[in-house]
Amino acid sequence: MKEKLEKLSTAAKAAMRSASTAEDLQEVQNKFFGKKGELTLISKELGKAKPEDRPALGQMINLTKTELEAMFAKKQALVKQEEMNAQLEDEWVDITAPGVQRKIGHIHPLSQVQREVEEIFSSMGFEIKDGPEVESEYFNFEALNIPASHPARDMQDTFFIDKEAHKDFGSLVLRTHTSPVQIRSMQKHGAPLRIIVPGRVFRYEATDASHDTTFYQVEGLLVDKEISLTHLKGIMQEFLTRLFQKDCLVRFRPGYFPFVEPGLELDFGCLICDQKGCKACKGTGWIEFMGAGMVHPNVLRSGGIDPDTHQGWAFGFGLTRLVMMRYKIPDIRLLFGGDVRFLNQF
Ligand code: FA5
Repeated sequence: MKEKLEKLSTAAKAAMRSASTAEDLQEVQNKFFGKKGELTLISKELGKAKPEDRPALGQMINLTKTELEAMFAKKQALVKQEEMNAQLEDEWVDITAPGVQRKIGHIHPLSQVQREVEEIFSSMGFEIKDGPEVESEYFNFEALNIPASHPARDMQDTFFIDKEAHKDFGSLVLRTHTSPVQIRSMQKHGAPLRIIVPGRVFRYEATDASHDTTFYQVEGLLVDKEISLTHLKGIMQEFLTRLFQKDCLVRFRPGYFPFVEPGLELDFGCLICDQKGCKACKGTGWIEFMGAGMVHPNVLRSGGIDPDTHQGWAFGFGLTRLVMMRYKIPDIRLLFGGDVRFLNQF
């Protein structure tokens, strides 16, 4: 039995020495120290020994057990420490390392200019309105004094949404201008009215450097008593001067739009050459900017306003073209081409 115990001790020590993981140690535990472990079994064999040998053998078993258990505990602590070190190394985080900067993008140049436009007009008492991009023929044309048979409908090639026309409102179209919001706002709010309407519009036309099928306009409408074109001139001069942060002249030229009478085109003095004549103004000293005019009496009536008591003026300019001018962008298609290398410049 003494020999057996020595062999068992040697085997247990060897097993402990070669154990390097918690699983290895669990195996050692089961093999030697568990309920059916070799050390437990040998203790039970003590009863079979001769009575006179039992005290010495018992003491030997106890000593071996204590020695092996102490060694096991030491080894267990060591393996635990090693595993912890490995885990620490795995999960190591350098809390002093600089953070990863997220790319958050920035405001599109068109939206930047739109915000500036809104701010300037708001400060002059204009409210910002919007309207549906899918519009009825009635609001896009009829109510603006452009009847179905009117040749002016040819001026704006249109995307039609449905073929079947509603008997009162006609077919649905992608609005070709922001002017229908004039009618919607007059019907909803009545007079007096002082609004601008920035928004997206659509036209079925061939694209080139200055024409796109989808672009942005800003509509303006002022309705009140004793309103004249002088007010429009003053407002636009102030607006452009603030926008370009440079004294800006404006001039009227006759123009035709069915929803205004008289109708006009507004140009502003070229700020690039100080009106001396350059490529941007084609040598004229003036940049064509927008259509405008006194709101036609029929349009006021469509909006539910009496043309005998109220007058107003309206204008509409191309916001996309204004952005191009602002940043000297040579091709309109760049703005919505989705190329971030282009957009990151603004
Ligand atoms: C109109 O759309 C009128 N509703 C403007 C108006 C409003 C006149 C109120 C009178 C009273 P016009 O078709 O000219 O007008 O367009 C206005 C502006 O939109 C143009 O001056 C131009 O800057 C811009 N524009 C027109 N077509 C395109 C296009 N295909 N791509 C980019 N911008 C365009």
